[in-house]
Amino acid sequence: MSTAFLTSGGDSSGMNPAIKRFVEYGLECGEQPYLIYDGLEGLIDGDIHLGEWSDAIGLISRGGTILRSSRSDRFYKESFRQKAAENLRALGIDKLIMLGGDGSYRAMARLHQETGIAIACIPATIDNDVPGTDYSIGVDTALNVIRRAVDDIRDTAASFRRAFIVETMGRRCGYLAMISALVSGAEICLIPEVPYSLESIAKRLRKDIDRGRRYVLAIVSEGVEGGSSQLHQWFEEVLGMSSRVTVLGHIQRGGSPTVYDRRIAFEFATAALDGLLAGQTCFAVCSRGGQLASVPMESLPECPHVDAHLLELVQRLSH
Ligand code: F6P
Repeated sequence: MSTAFLTSGGDSSGMNPAIKRFVEYGLECGEQPYLIYDGLEGLIDGDIHLGEWSDAIGLISRGGTILRSSRSDRFYKESFRQKAAENLRALGIDKLIMLGGDGSYRAMARLHQETGIAIACIPATIDNDVPGTDYSIGVDTALNVIRRAVDDIRDTAASFRRAFIVETMGRRCGYLAMISALVSGAEICLIPEVPYSLESIAKRLRKDIDRGRRYVLAIVSEGVEGGSSQLHQWFEEVLGMSSRVTVLGHIQRGGSPTVYDRRIAFEFATAALDGLLAGQTCFAVCSRGGQLASVPMESLPECPHVDAHLLELVQRLSH
């Protein structure tokens, strides 16, 4: 029997190095490494091809996913999940490795329950919001993209008396904004996990402005209610400061994977295949306190872990 590999949901940088490792390590282990194109949509439509050694060439430094990805509404229906399993069985595939976020994890758990296909999930999303793991493939690359953008914005900010608001992705998770604010020396950070007070921020900034501050950098996570536009208006109306908003958007999903993302992709893909070959049937590979772990899907927590120490550090930037 054979193993197949797919990427699902929002792509993240490091997916390609994981695909490379899957093909090369699969062949080394005597497996037939199948590649599924277009994520869950391709699984339903049977877009599944045997990977060859040559498929792994040139992937290590490329962002995105050569397998492409999708957000599949059809996969919510059991009939399409059965169709997906039939496609796999027809090719002698009984094991599946999926790279993606928590929505795709749930889809995989269902597929396993209903069809018995063995599943290994690898966390890959720039949001870093997958339960059970401290780290998901792509986060470090996205943080470096944001860091570069904010450094560049600081150059123009320092040339004016203005406030600059940079909006980061992350859905309901403020991880990207939180780390970016800390490493960019931002004065303000708003994330969905921490209630903020514009009143206290105003007090703090007025003191700073009296002491000579000329510009302000604010990092706002896209999941914050009111978000960047509310803050923009607040700067103009309450602080009397001209302000500009930069929504970084999908640029955060691109770029050549960093050293860390290449390394973790290698380790996660290896652990996923090892687990399946050792007979594990439905699990996720995780990074916990810097250690790799393999956790049965039913034992994963409901919510992602939020680092209390980081929250504490960022608290002062939201007040
Ligand atoms: O989940 C990754 C992510 O980039 C989120 O941060 C963002 O909200 C969303 O995907 C954007 O989704 P799409 O690429 O479908 O517009």
